[in-house]
This record gives sequence, C-alpha cells and structure tokens, in this order.
Amino acid sequence: MAEVVRHIGLSLGADICWPLCFEALMKKLDLSIPIGGDTVRFDVERVSIEPFDLRQPCKYDLVVDRLTHWLHTSREWIKKSIVMDDLYVFNNPWSVQSSEKHTSYCAMMKLGMPIPETWMIPPKTYEPSPDLKPTLNRYAKLFDVAKIGDQVGWPMFMKPYDGGGWRAVTKVDDAKAAWKAYEESGKAVMHLQAAVKDFDRFVRCIGFGPQTHCVLYDAAAPLHDRYSREKNFIAAKEADHLRKITLTINAFFGWEFNSCESLRRDGVWYPIDFANACPDSQVTSLHYHFPWLVKAYLKWSIFVAATKKPMQKNLDWTPFYEVAKLDLPYSEKLDRYARIAEERFETAKFEEFCAKHLSHLDAIVWEFFGTEEAKSAVRQKVQALYPAYEVEAFTELFWTRIQDWRRDNPV
Ligand SMILES: Nc1ncnc2c1ncn2[C@@H]1O[C@H](COP(=O)(O)OP(=O)(O)OP(=O)(O)O)[C@@H](O)[C@H]1O
Ligand SMILES: [Mg+2]
Repeated sequence: MAEVVRHIGLSLGADICWPLCFEALMKKLDLSIPIGGDTVRFDVERVSIEPFDLRQPCKYDLVVDRLTHWLHTSREWIKKSIVMDDLYVFNNPWSVQSSEKHTSYCAMMKLGMPIPETWMIPPKTYEPSPDLKPTLNRYAKLFDVAKIGDQVGWPMFMKPYDGGGWRAVTKVDDAKAAWKAYEESGKAVMHLQAAVKDFDRFVRCIGFGPQTHCVLYDAAAPLHDRYSREKNFIAAKEADHLRKITLTINAFFGWEFNSCESLRRDGVWYPIDFANACPDSQVTSLHYHFPWLVKAYLKWSIFVAATKKPMQKNLDWTPFYEVAKLDLPYSEKLDRYARIAEERFETAKFEEFCAKHLSHLDAIVWEFFGTEEAKSAVRQKVQALYPAYEVEAFTELFWTRIQDWRRDNPV
C-alpha cells in the first residue's frame, strides 16, 4: 500500500477560531484512510498571499477559501489553480464573483420558489463619465419610486441588489420613506422587495456540501444572540423543506458553503436572502452552533480531499430548468431539484464514507470542545473583537453555550 498525502490549504482572512479548531482536530484525528489500494493521509497548511507564476503548479488538492469575495490576488490564484491544476475549492469562485443576490432571486423565481415581489431600480447618482449625460438623456425613463412601491406593496425593503452584511437595507413604510431611502442610496443599484409581513419564523439554514443545519434567527438581536438556541422550532418536515431549498440553491450556484434565510408566513416558507456564499463562521456569532460548523468543515473537507471529488468547474443549470418546465406542483419540483443537488454533493457516498472512515470523529470533536485548547481558540477570537474589559465575560458566555451543545449532543 502506497502512502499518499492530500494537501488541504486554508485560504484565510481574519478567521481565528475555526481554523485553530480545524487544525487541532485534524492532528488529533491523525487519519490514515485506505482508498483504492493507497493509504491516504492529510496535511493542512495556511495559504500565503504572494506573487505567482501562472504556470507554477499548485500543491493543494483542496483549498477552503474565505477570501474570494474580496481579495483578488487569492481569488485569481484560486481560479488559475482550478483551471490549470485540478484544484477543488469551496466555493466556485466564478459564481461567487458574478452571481449576486439579484441573480439568485431571478434564478430561484424561475425554479418556482416563492421569492417576494422584487423590482430593480436605476441608481440615484452615477460615477461621472463623458457618456453619462447623453446616455441618460436619451434612454433613462423618469420614474416615481413611490408608484413602484404601490405595485410592490407596502411595507417594502430597499436594499442593494448585491447586498450583504445588512449594508444599506431600509424598511420603507410609505411614499415619503421610499423617496428618502432612494435619495440616500447614492450610486448603489437597489432592489425594492415586498416585506414578508407578520412572519412567525425566521430560519437560517446553513449548508455545507450535503450537510444542513437550521437555526432560528433573530435579526433584531445583538450579533452574539442572532443565532438562537431554540430547539424544535419547526417540524421535521419543514426542516427537510428548508434543506431542499438550501441544497438546490447551493448546487445551482456551486456554493457548497452557503446559508439561506427564509421567513414563514401562514405555513409558507419565503426565501429572502440566499447569496451568502461562505457565511460567518465565527464562534462569536455561532456560539452553540460552532461545533456543528467545525464538524461540517472537517467532514466535507476530508471527504472531498480523500476521494479526489472532481470540482464542477462550470455551472450546469440545464437539469434544473428541465424540471422547472414540467407541469408539476412546487413541492414536487423541489423534490426533483433536491435530488439533482444530492447527486452533485454525492450525499449517499459522503454518508457511507463518514460511517466507514470517520465514525470516531464525533467523539473526538465532542471531547475537544471540552479542552483548554478549544477554549483558547474561543478566547483568541473574542480578544480580536471585544474591548479588553469584556473579553472574560464573553469568552465565558460562548464557552458555556458550547458546553450546552456538548450536554445536548452526547456521543
Ligand atoms: N422581504 C423581506 N421581508 C421581511 N424582512 C426582510 C425582507 N428583506 C430583508 N428583510 C430584513 O432585512 C434584513 C437584511 O436583509 P438581507 O438579509 O436581504 O440583507 P443582507 O445585507 O444580506 O443582510 P445579512 O448579511 O444580515 O443577511 C433581513 O435579515 C430581514 O430582517
Ligand atoms: Mg440576510
């Protein structure tokens, strides 16, 4: 049996806590997995940012990427390595770069999801250019943002078409507020979206490969309390429904690590924000749910690297559109979309792999999250975000919640 090493690169930004846990756990796991006559071992390394020759080879089999959405050298190195060196990356960098919230709304509307009524409007102001005046004079139609509001329905949300991080999101209740928000929107291209009124559940479903996790979300709470610790807040059938929505979106866009926000009103789930590729992974937001995320990172990374899962370099939307065309109710279409997604994420193979090779992982993670090493990772993240006088209290808060997770999830 030959020993082969799979190289996993972590392409990181300000991340502190999850990489420390990921690295420590990979060491503890000390995997030697027999695959096709080889013994597969793993090496984890942090990827540096440096000049590169476009023809230089890439040593990694897999890169876990946190930078594509804002650091262009790393994004372009990743794109080069996928195209030239068969690198596998979460997430597809072309898709992250080009498919903003807007495209995600359009595509999922086309697939039949009940996305609230949404309009796009031209921006209030533009970057000056010699062509601007003739272009707008000739072609830009005057419009009344309040009249569009009448069509969309009040209240509505005005928010950037490529939004994220709650930037420039305004709830507008009437014509006056709509005009005010538009005046203040500057050069941003905005959506007007009907509010899902009187919703009784707001759920974030995190998807990582074929793994999904639903959390009741409180958007109005401070950052450390938005992911709630509520249990049994939806029926198993609804969790399954949200899983199907999330997997469909993630497979469609090549976002293997993404989260999908949905609101429930009168029993209907309305997805409202699902272009969140590479969502927040910090213990300071996820607290109780952080060990789940670390496990999800580990399992999907190990599976992909060990089996040399080929990266789907371009997005193939045709099978989804084929289903969309059928004369079927939404729930049946969703079942079919989800089946395509499960195939792309190789759910069955993944589960078999985990059962065969990673059956000890849950216990190792459970034990790790009781150690001083794990607590130190939490503390280091808290230190980076909180003023010195709050570090102890918040470290203890997040640590206590992680201990609650251990109590609730014994192995
Ligand atoms: N159609 C809607 N109906 C009801 N609430 C909405 C709607 N759109 C947005 N919101 C509210 O505004 C918040 C921010 O909107 P959205 O999630 O689309 O923006 P974002 O910039 O992606 O924010 P984040 O990064 O926090 O998810 C949501 O968490 C929700 O509370
Ligand atoms: Mg959101």
